[in-house]
Amino acid sequence: MDRDQCLALDANDPLRAFKDEFVLPEGVVYLVGNSLGALPRRTAERVRQTVEDEWGSQLVGGWNHAGWYAQPLTAGDRLAPLIGAGPGQVVVGNTTSIAVFQAVAAALRLRPDRRVIVSDVRNFPTDHYMVQGLAGLLGGYEVRDFAQGRFDDAAVVLLSEVDYRTGARHDVPSVTARVHEAGALMVWDVCHSVGAMDVDVSGADFAVGCTYKYLNAGPGAPAFLYVNPRHHAAAENVLSGWHGHAEPFAFETGYRPAEGVRRFAVGTPHVLSFAALEAALDVWERVPMDQVRAKSMALTSLFVDLVGDALQLVSPADAAARGSQVSFRHPHGYPVMRALIDRGVHGDFRAPDVLRFGFAPLYIGYADVYDAAATLLEVLDKELWRDERYATRLAVT
Ligand SMILES: Cc1ncc(COP(=O)(O)O)c(C=O)c1O
Repeated sequence: MDRDQCLALDANDPLRAFKDEFVLPEGVVYLVGNSLGALPRRTAERVRQTVEDEWGSQLVGGWNHAGWYAQPLTAGDRLAPLIGAGPGQVVVGNTTSIAVFQAVAAALRLRPDRRVIVSDVRNFPTDHYMVQGLAGLLGGYEVRDFAQGRFDDAAVVLLSEVDYRTGARHDVPSVTARVHEAGALMVWDVCHSVGAMDVDVSGADFAVGCTYKYLNAGPGAPAFLYVNPRHHAAAENVLSGWHGHAEPFAFETGYRPAEGVRRFAVGTPHVLSFAALEAALDVWERVPMDQVRAKSMALTSLFVDLVGDALQLVSPADAAARGSQVSFRHPHGYPVMRALIDRGVHGDFRAPDVLRFGFAPLYIGYADVYDAAATLLEVLDKELWRDERYATRLAVT
């Protein structure tokens, strides 16, 4: 496909109007929306409003009158459709790492007769680290790698829908069914799928995810936790902070969990971050997810085709089997990525040798993909990555 054909696809793209809703620097092809999503145009004004009109004029009254106190649940209800959940099933706050801890701990309490936690050693490390910390705290638990495929004595299985490094996608309904048949509970991490495709975790027991990647809620934006309603009465939040208490402002000496998913709230919500999340959700409420997935598969396939055999593909070759990212392997992956970024094509690097490119369908077009591939091929052909400026590692890769 040539650049003119890509421009024609952009002109007919049903999602093309969304690009104007994001702030993107001139001359940059931003393929890191799977790490930190781009800034929605409306966010600055929404955050300003919270700072000046709410905090500045209502002061502490903002907790009641600006809806700050209810944010974990109101944002959860707005986000729920993006993961196939309903109202009253999602609570927003904290970080994904904390939500993983809460979900896995709650699952263990629901399966007290079992002593095995299944976790994927290739998952984004924080998930596996949190499981290790929890198992260490509790004592007497085995942490087993998902690849062993044995769930018959497991209490819980924790897995990411889309692998952060390869982009490989698990089939949520079939894995969930296998886990349930074995009598275990299922926790999905949807960090790399929410906002990139139709996610449906409604058959699972718990799900966690972040809002700063494809959902564009900004750096440090709060995470979310889904709890299936069938567990609302029995599931316990071991991080029993006051916002999960039945009556936080009764200031009782004993912990009494709130009804429903609210018991999984922990402490004071990060109000300024919620403002940015709300601005992002104003966009997502209008997004047809089936079109997002169709375009995402077309973009990743185009990139794979254009790069051809210049690099070794790490992601599944079949678009349906991957998320919205494409990863390649190169022995000098780090300087290759630095050279690319210097030329306006922003991807990222995951040790030891993986070049990652995320395609956010709301603001990435076909011509962007064409330009990114052409620049990548030039960096490789001319060995532009050999410049010594690209050898030193920055703190965040
Ligand atoms: C699968 C997965 N889980 C969790 C996280 C991050 O967790 P946290 O929000 O605690 O930083 C990431 C970040 O990239 C991730 O890819």
